Formats: sequence, C-alpha cells, structure tokens
Amino acid sequence: MPSTREQSPAERRKAWIARSFDLASDSYDEANGPFFNPVGERLVDLAGLRPGDRVLDVGCGRGAVLFAAVAAVGPDGYVAGVDLSPAMVRRTAAQAAGAGLRNVSVRVGDAEDPGFPDGSFEAVLSSFSLVLTPDPAAALARARRLLAPDGRFGTTSFGPDPEPAWREAVRVLRGFADPEAAGAYARPFNALADDPEGMLAAAGFAGVRTVEGTTATEFADLDAWWRSAWADGHRGVLETIPPDRREEARRAACAVVAPLAGPDGRLVRRTAVRWTTARRG
Ligand SMILES: C[S@@+](CC[C@H](N)C(=O)[O-])C[C@H]1O[C@@H](n2cnc3c(N)ncnc32)[C@H](O)[C@@H]1O
Repeated sequence: MPSTREQSPAERRKAWIARSFDLASDSYDEANGPFFNPVGERLVDLAGLRPGDRVLDVGCGRGAVLFAAVAAVGPDGYVAGVDLSPAMVRRTAAQAAGAGLRNVSVRVGDAEDPGFPDGSFEAVLSSFSLVLTPDPAAALARARRLLAPDGRFGTTSFGPDPEPAWREAVRVLRGFADPEAAGAYARPFNALADDPEGMLAAAGFAGVRTVEGTTATEFADLDAWWRSAWADGHRGVLETIPPDRREEARRAACAVVAPLAGPDGRLVRRTAVRWTTARRG
C-alpha cells in the first residue's frame, strides 16, 4: 500500500527548495551567474585546493564552485556535486559532459546526507546553499565527517546589506504573491547565515576565518534585473503571483530600484559577501 505518512516541515521545505530551483534552473546561470560564479571562484581560491584533490560541492546548482574546482584540481583530481534540484543537476551534468570532463560527477543529493563514505574528500565547499537547508548544524557535522584528516571546508553567506533597495524591491514583489506561500517561506536563510563562524566552531572545525568583500553585479537595464529576480530561490514564491498581476508587480518592484540606474539605464548592485573557511580539526 502507498505510504500516507505526511511530510515533516523539513521535508516540505526541501521539496520547496528543489521546486524553486527547478523552475529557476533554465535562466539561473545566464541571469545570476555574473554574481554567483565569481563568488564561487573566490571560494575555491580561498580553500587552497591542490592538484589531485577530491572535492565535494554541496548544493552545486549550476556549477559556480564545481567548474572552478575542476580547474584547480586538474585531471588527477575529482569533483562531485550534489543538489536537491533535479533540473539543476541535469543541466550541470550536461555542461560537464559537454566540456568533456571525465573527473566530475553530479547527482541529486541532500547536504544533510550527501551519500559518500566518511573521509572521502580533501575539501568540501558550498556556496550559498547550506544557508538554505533546514538543519545547517546537521549538514556541517556531515561535511566535517566527509573530510580526510587536514581536509578543508568553505562556505559563503551574505554580509550586511550595503544597498537595501534591492532587498526592498524583492520584498515588494513578494507582496504580490500568495500570502500563504510568501509567509511559509518568509525567511529564506537559516542560522548559518547569521553566524557562520560560530556554527562552524560548534561543529568542531578548526582555524575558522572569514574574508569579507563587496561584489558588483551589473545589469544592462531594469529588464535584466527583473529576469535575475525570477532566477533564484525566490522563484517558488514569485510563481504564485497571479498572471494578471505580474505586470503591476514588475512595475512596483522596478520603481524601487529605478533610481539606482545610471544615465544609460545600467544598474550596478553591490552585495556584501562573507567567505568562511576552516580545517577539519
Ligand atoms: C543559491 S543556489 C547556489 C548554487 C551554487 N552553489 C552557486 O553558488 O551558484 C542554492 C542551491 O542549493 C541547493 N540546495 C539548497 N538546500 C540544499 C540541500 N539541503 N542539499 C542540497 N542542495 C541544496 C538548491 O537546490 C540550489 O541549487
């Protein structure tokens, strides 16, 4: 008989994450790669990968960390990616295959139990993914066990907002969505986003340190920003905006960021990013 067990809140949240990123997956890299890809490349640099290392990218999405890690570890290394979103996985696996990369594997998997034996990796990295999962402490504990002795861990999160208008525009947009969906997923980030260093230390990592920086992402015009707003984890909520109100929503949200446009219509969004790295300890 089919199981009638109800999903737990954590399972529902993971299903929601998977659906949001499935929907966003076709435009994520084109619309938001200019932000996520350089952040992933910097995480790889800070993790100090060596040729031949085995690396796990947790919540690999469209490969911002994964492809930079492949370049860093070279043909004798190996990079695995896991992600909750089957569509993200399909697209990233196809990109790796298209590039002829034989030392990459990408599969559907959960950060809280990625399904590899203990000690499998010299590095476990995760950019803007562990901040979404329902139980970040469980994911960090698992990541630490997956590391070989002296293995390195790295993750990213957002720092204090230097330009609140961008967040405000998304808030305005979410105001047009179904209140139940917007309410249930009102807070996209977990406790790791608030205190990455404290949570890594509590998980037993050593040598925890954070590098802070500000990225600048350019949008050719308001339409480019609008496309990017629909190509990330908010997508599940935005999808509930009734089609006959989307134009009104677009105008209201764009009005918030329009004053930031230069005379040529271009916009530059500054975002504070924290790269937190550690050793297995
Ligand atoms: C904002 S995207 C970041 C993707 C990529 N790391 C990057 O920097 O572009 C977040 C990704 O994390 C994935 N994700 C969230 N929670 C996860 C979990 N518990 N296990 C695996 N993947 C997860 C989502 O499906 C999504 O693809």
